[in-house]
Amino acid sequence: MRPDLVDLAYLLAAILFVIGLKGLTRPRTAVRGNMLGALAMLFAVVATMLHQDIISWTGLLIAMGVGSVLGVVLALKIEMTAMPQLVALFNGLGGGASVLVAGAWLSGKEFSEKLASGNGFMDALTATAASGLIGAITLSGSLVAFGKLQELKFVKDISFPGQRILNLLLALGSIGVGYLMVVQPENAQLWFWLLAITATTLGVFLVISIGGADMPVVIALLNSYSGLAASATGFVLNNNLLIIAGALVGASGLILTRIMCVAMNRSLWAVLFGKMQSGGTMLSDDEVYANVKSTSPEEVAMMLEVAQNVLIVPGYGMAVAQAQHTVRDLTNLLLKKDIAVNFGIHPVAGRMPGHMNVLLAEADIDYDRLKEMDEVNAMMDQVDVAIVLGANDVVNPSARTDPNSPIAGMPIIDVDKARTVIVVKRSLSPGFAGIANPLFAADNTMMLFGDGKQAISEVTKALNEG
Ligand code: TAP
Repeated sequence: MRPDLVDLAYLLAAILFVIGLKGLTRPRTAVRGNMLGALAMLFAVVATMLHQDIISWTGLLIAMGVGSVLGVVLALKIEMTAMPQLVALFNGLGGGASVLVAGAWLSGKEFSEKLASGNGFMDALTATAASGLIGAITLSGSLVAFGKLQELKFVKDISFPGQRILNLLLALGSIGVGYLMVVQPENAQLWFWLLAITATTLGVFLVISIGGADMPVVIALLNSYSGLAASATGFVLNNNLLIIAGALVGASGLILTRIMCVAMNRSLWAVLFGKMQSGGTMLSDDEVYANVKSTSPEEVAMMLEVAQNVLIVPGYGMAVAQAQHTVRDLTNLLLKKDIAVNFGIHPVAGRMPGHMNVLLAEADIDYDRLKEMDEVNAMMDQVDVAIVLGANDVVNPSARTDPNSPIAGMPIIDVDKARTVIVVKRSLSPGFAGIANPLFAADNTMMLFGDGKQAISEVTKALNEG
């Protein structure tokens, strides 16, 4: 294929990537945005395949075949609740691929020619070092994040005295080795693989101590790193599309990281280097849950019958129970009875950004009913019944009231300020952050214990019969 045609295809793909990303910013246009992104990727892959730089078609086709089969199987089999782990794994593979491509370039013909002629290798070596450094951190950091989210037994939260100093030394050591690689190009391969080892170790220690509620921020940040690593690899290979696509992932990942930090009221510095507070003066579960009241589906139906304004706040438990379709049925029934229904969506409810939006959209719930946290908090005093469905941390008032809480300062949906609160969950067990929730024992709260789908379906049945 003529190089100008390859460039044209790359340009088209870059434009489609940008339009696709823009589409992903709104639920209504998200599906189209995703399709455009996939189309852009198809253009990019086909143009790259037709480019004359491809050396071995056989190897490439085998790799693509294996990758495609694995990708399809994973995408079809993965549970919605395990999506963050999958994203972490994909980020890691992206980082790993950048390391391997940069390493392979160093043993290739182009680098030997540049080295022999003594021209133009400084820039390329700097990009190779960046690719190795960021790619290796992304690979190991993402694998640790995967292990934590998957709750693998051998991946525990590990923190020890001097960990920050060790991280600092590893970071400085990695940068130092990267520098040596650039100034001693004849030993570039040796330095590169040493850099990959130090950066891999750094990635492990950076993520291993981060736990609990901070994990979404880490995933978004690693996503951004995988883009930056790909972009650096684009400079190594002189591939404009890889530079652009990597930069888009890098920038959007950083924006997402910022949104997550704001949503959890954590600075990025505190996420990466701070410890979660110990919660030294926090009350025990028995003290917090001394006055818990439980209710029945019939009683909830009676409360809904006389309500005018209902707010449903979904969380991770709705995803586990796959209760979104049942929730749609309840919503439709309430609307039929002229009762207003809105959904309060917390930015980090569930286990991935936009988790609740995706589930509710899957059940065809009108986008206009999905309200952001600030909007629902402003109208909370008009809510007659707030149904908290499998949400816990994102409605925990101790974020507002207890400075010792690990989630202190995290913005929450203030359901405790609604007239009546119904919490649907199976037990009093904690959510992701592992802490007790005083909401469950508040005077205006009643617990409807049970699986989310079954409980909501029983409420709907009782309301139908009432
Ligand atoms: P969580 O605080 O994790 O609470 C979920 C609750 O769902 C649990 O307390 C659990 O209680 C309940 N549950 C589980 N299965 C259920 C079922 N079948 N039926 C009914 N309830 C069920 O959820 P959240 O309020 O959505 O908060 C999200 C948390 O995850 C935050 O701490 C956030 O930082 C973190 N996180 C978020 C993300 C993103 S980006 N969204 C990614 C990683 C982590 P029972 O066991 O008693 O039923």
